[in-house]
Amino acid sequence: MNKKTTILAIDQGTTSTRSIIFDRDATPLATSRIEFAQHYPDHGWVEHDAEEIWRDALSTARAAIEQGGGVDAIAALGITNQRETIVVWDRATGTPIHRAIVWQDRRTASMCARMRQDGCEGLVRDRTGLLLDPYFSASKLAWMLDNVPGARASAEAGRLAFGTIDSFLLWRLTGGRVHATDVTNASRTLLFDIHRQVWDDDLLRLFGIPAALLPEVRGNSEIYGETDPALFGRPIPVAGMAGDQQAALVGQACFAPGMAKATYGTGCFVLLNTGTAPVQSANRMLTTIGYRIGDRTTYALEGAIFVAGAAIKWLRDGLHLITHASQTDDMATRIPHSHGVYMVPGFVGLGAPHWDPEARGLICGLTLDATAAHIARAALESVAYQTYDLMAAMAQDGGGAVTTLRVDGGMAANDWFCRFLSDVLQARVERPRHLETTATGAAFLAGLATGVWTDLDDVAARRARGSLFQPTMDLAQRGTMLDGWHQAVRRTLTADA
Ligand code: G3P
Repeated sequence: MNKKTTILAIDQGTTSTRSIIFDRDATPLATSRIEFAQHYPDHGWVEHDAEEIWRDALSTARAAIEQGGGVDAIAALGITNQRETIVVWDRATGTPIHRAIVWQDRRTASMCARMRQDGCEGLVRDRTGLLLDPYFSASKLAWMLDNVPGARASAEAGRLAFGTIDSFLLWRLTGGRVHATDVTNASRTLLFDIHRQVWDDDLLRLFGIPAALLPEVRGNSEIYGETDPALFGRPIPVAGMAGDQQAALVGQACFAPGMAKATYGTGCFVLLNTGTAPVQSANRMLTTIGYRIGDRTTYALEGAIFVAGAAIKWLRDGLHLITHASQTDDMATRIPHSHGVYMVPGFVGLGAPHWDPEARGLICGLTLDATAAHIARAALESVAYQTYDLMAAMAQDGGGAVTTLRVDGGMAANDWFCRFLSDVLQARVERPRHLETTATGAAFLAGLATGVWTDLDDVAARRARGSLFQPTMDLAQRGTMLDGWHQAVRRTLTADA
């Protein structure tokens, strides 16, 4: 057993970067968090400054280490990250050639539509388990190579490196010594064969991506390298890496087929463990790698909603209806029902099961007695309804009706939301004591690789239970509300979807 007592997890999300120190019981001892700038240079474009992300990762990690018992106690470091977002940097200088293009960015929607019309989706689907949508990395990478002067020639000459955020952070943390990613992040690029678990030459050709750009692909729980000693005073093994949604699957200990989790961050992502065999969806769910530990790969079905917490952030920053997200709990509780007001938060198009990048948001059903509370409640309800649509699609795909959904992320702190979710799903909603499940998952992966925990049972025993919500809503009322939701969604969809 490893004698050191803590694990450092860096959780690089869409709107904030967090570093958390966990002890052996997976209790968070210290947390440091920084929100960072979102750049919207054009309609539907979303970018991040990768240098800012790196600075925040470093400063939050240093702050958490200082408050959480110091560097000498740390057994290992785990990284988890917003997925699909791409960075391309110069191998010699480590400098990014362009701002990171974020998963929410829609600039390549027409390129993806053209490829769909050309009949490319079958190949993509078979190899990657994904769809041809601008959400994923490959079209963004092609765009960068074609639009940054000289980028394509430099990429072909091997002077540039590509990575999702995990890969970029690993590169920087190891002082430019390791260029690697993990199977879960690779599985979101549209360039990775999830069955053979290799970069796929046909897909590289299809998107025009030079292989010289690509990182090595590793499992989720192994030693990738050590941090540069200059960063934290001594080297720390980087021993766990996974995309944030897959890390949450691990953090929620969804280790058996049929277990599912939903993480409510900027978006909401439901992952259903399907065991060692990948399941192809007939309902436009994604097939993805859940985790690979040792030589055992676990697959998952995934439903991706692009806007969940982002709708609440919009109530705060766009509409100025609230000053803090937690107010929505009270506002929703104060009114007896939604009064037929629906919000469809298609701010960046709609994800699963519609996959309509051109759809846009909508609030409908307004009458003169509608108030800010109705709009806040409609925003919360929209996230629950979208979760319902995903769970219904997964049930049809053979996942069966999930009887318990494990929830986490910021919105899961809202009791009203959890109760409503349970009513809409007609399922138990289980919330862990600590909501930072994504970081917990990264810590579990790093701790497993370094002897802090022995196996998945040991890890599952560390998951601290919190609250359980059970359905109480009348079924007829639920049916009427769902009908209203589906009518509202139909009004947002474009003809191409
Ligand atoms: O696929 C995008 C996802 O990884 C982003 O997660 O938590 O930043 O919304 P989050």
